[in-house]
Amino acid sequence: MPALELLRTGDGAPESYRLDVSRTKITLTAPDAAGLFYGLQSLAQLAGHHGRRIPAVTIVDAPRFGYRGFMLDVSRHFRDKEFVERQLDLMARYKLNRFHWHLTDGAGWRIEIKKYPALTDIAAWRPYPDWEGWNFGGKRYCHRDDPAAAGGYYTQDDIREVVEYARALHIEVIPEIEMPGHAMAALAAYPSLGCLGEGYEVPSVWGVKEDVFCAGNDSTFRLLEDVMTEVIDLFPSEYIHIGGDECPKVRWKACPKCQKRIRDEKLKDEFELQSYFVQRMEKFLNGKGRKIIGWDEILEGGLSKTATVMSWRGSAGGIEAAKSGNHVIMAPNTHCYLDYYPTRDLENEPRGIGGFLPIEMVYALDPYEGLNAHEREYILGVQGNLWTEFIAELDHAEYMLLPRLAAVAEVGWSYDRKDYPDFYRRMASL
Ligand code: ACM
Ligand code: ZN
Repeated sequence: MPALELLRTGDGAPESYRLDVSRTKITLTAPDAAGLFYGLQSLAQLAGHHGRRIPAVTIVDAPRFGYRGFMLDVSRHFRDKEFVERQLDLMARYKLNRFHWHLTDGAGWRIEIKKYPALTDIAAWRPYPDWEGWNFGGKRYCHRDDPAAAGGYYTQDDIREVVEYARALHIEVIPEIEMPGHAMAALAAYPSLGCLGEGYEVPSVWGVKEDVFCAGNDSTFRLLEDVMTEVIDLFPSEYIHIGGDECPKVRWKACPKCQKRIRDEKLKDEFELQSYFVQRMEKFLNGKGRKIIGWDEILEGGLSKTATVMSWRGSAGGIEAAKSGNHVIMAPNTHCYLDYYPTRDLENEPRGIGGFLPIEMVYALDPYEGLNAHEREYILGVQGNLWTEFIAELDHAEYMLLPRLAAVAEVGWSYDRKDYPDFYRRMASL
């Protein structure tokens, strides 16, 4: 008789499992491969605690939310694929199932696009070893062959490898390609697609003088659609994240092409122009069978019914979106920004971006706050975000992640039966 039996049964919630450990036998049943996988994670955790003398238990378990995510920013500091795969291992251990890969931003473009080689010949490299030097030293980029070049990118083969590695761990990888703001690296490579056109200048003040994709230039959409065509080939995910956050409107206000677009499309202002931009890209992606996620700014200027909102400026955007019938992922900076300081002991903390997010606060997230029973159905789940402006070193990244990401995971899996003292005890005895 086998000591361990895995059984696929016909019924039960997705990703659920039942684990029975008796004196002579371990039986694991689940309706799908993901459920069997999560049952094995629980068994491994029991074995981690108890060694060969696994206690006799029956565990009947299912996740609260279908979307349990982690976001890694690889633009501000590039991480190699081995580091990414190590985080995927960690996610699987905590039964997280969505890896949001923040692949492009002002500080660097990190994905090979065959049709636009300058994105990785130039936009992936800066003549500064870290983000601070870049951000406060002129925000310049350089050619990959420059002796001072620092940075990097994933080849399409790297991407395929990571996506497959994740798939085997029941994790879906969701790529993010930022637009219309947070795009300076791409515009350094293709300046004609910014509102400043060929007269691209190095911005001097963060967030004020930055250039953005020109919404009045059809070539912008041609490039972004071509990029998305390659992205879709690489990522089989249900969702593609199009960014949408923090797009300054000063360039669009001063740009004749953008102003003409506003008139031609009978838009009210630059916020509706942003909405035009996002909806145009959404239509393209929907036509390829994909849905979009955007940061909560995509609510401004009007949102299509089918876009999913990722709430980051607190939970307000997510609440508004759920009330209007849009799907929502809760990643509020108040509870989910893992780049914030975990303690107030700043003398001993590695230097960071600011903020204060102790693990109790992560654990206290209520993704349903402010929503009635009907509106709650629009909450797909939760996500922890690691932005990396000030996180150059690998051990710093892992310090910021753990154990707070485990708290995110428990909110996502066990929201209806959370118990902080018990969580604390389990973390302390790991
Ligand atoms: C964000 O933190 N700007 C999404
Ligand atoms: Zn423009």
